[in-house]
Amino acid sequence: MRKGGLNISYRIYENVAELEKSDADLMLAAEKSLKNAYAVYSGFRVGAALLLENGEVILGNNQENIAFPSSLCAERVALYYCKANYPDVKVVKIAITAKASSLKLIEPVSPCGACRQVMSEYERIQSSNIEMILKGEEGEVFIFDTVTELLPLAFETKAL
Ligand code: THU
Repeated sequence: MRKGGLNISYRIYENVAELEKSDADLMLAAEKSLKNAYAVYSGFRVGAALLLENGEVILGNNQENIAFPSSLCAERVALYYCKANYPDVKVVKIAITAKASSLKLIEPVSPCGACRQVMSEYERIQSSNIEMILKGEEGEVFIFDTVTELLPLAFETKAL
């Protein structure tokens, strides 16, 4: 028997003001985007902004449905729109933020497992990292250099 172990690593910034301007701008775009979320069932609005290598910014927000499982997270709304329209353009960064109706989110919001899986595959096929910038409604900002930090040992197989 051998023991395995994993460390995740990320940068922590006190607040958005500490970010590089381009990252702060991307986060601002995600914040604006969450205003268009359709989150009538959860009251939890999420905004995502993708920066593409061509400089284009793609926005997404969560879209819920009365048939709950038909809902889709902000990150995947943005990523699928992106890949549907710019299949060959690399995604450089994704900024994600959220605002809840029930309480103030003072910690970064981390993408759900399904969104991590989708980001992980896009990272793999584009052969370059997607940086993740995470923030709550206010407070600290976490930056992960790659989705792999948040989804180590992701599912993939040569059999499919
Ligand atoms: N949600 C996202 O948009 N992204 C995530 O990574 C986690 C959750 C949405 C789904 C649902 O509309 C609401 O937040 C509450 O779960």
